Amino acid sequence: MRRKTQVKTVKNHRFCPGRMAETAMGHPMVELMKTMKLTQKESMLLQDLKTSEEICIEKYNEYARKAEDQALADLFLTIKAKEEEHLNTINQLISGKVPMMGNGQNGQGSGGQPGDGQATKQSKSKADEYMLKDALDTEKHVSSVYDTCIFEFTDAGARSALNHIQKEEQEHGQMLYDYMAAHGMTA
Ligand SMILES: [Fe+2]
Ligand SMILES: [Fe+2]
Repeated sequence: MRRKTQVKTVKNHRFCPGRMAETAMGHPMVELMKTMKLTQKESMLLQDLKTSEEICIEKYNEYARKAEDQALADLFLTIKAKEEEHLNTINQLISGKVPMMGNGQNGQGSGGQPGDGQATKQSKSKADEYMLKDALDTEKHVSSVYDTCIFEFTDAGARSALNHIQKEEQEHGQMLYDYMAAHGMTA
């Protein structure tokens, strides 16, 4: 298996799984990036994951537009931004680049979750409830797809990147569930 490590300089990041923390003081960021050779099966799985992430982005975008409760619209947009990061990671993997995750530390797992502050507002919208249920169902599905895919990858860095995404999909499910619980909806 041919692998090599290269050092890449990136000035303006929008996405960070492999990002090193030392970005401070305006220095160009140094990101370690491995390359890998994908098997045919890995390529196929990544294409499926890419489609899933694209669907998530579209869905959250549309749901944010339709949501009656502004806090819910904000929540959908927050999750959508994460899905865009996921898509970027998957595209990197497709091109054979493996972001290095820095053992178990995923720098962004505890990110802010707008919408929490609105927990007392009672949403009466059936349409909002439907979108939440559908989004939660989608997250469950996508999370299980990642779970399956992780086992199929030989490269430890790729597994780590997929694992990171899966953890965030679970967080999305939690965020949706928390909103529902706070608004008297059952998941
Ligand atoms: Fe995602
Ligand atoms: Fe998600």
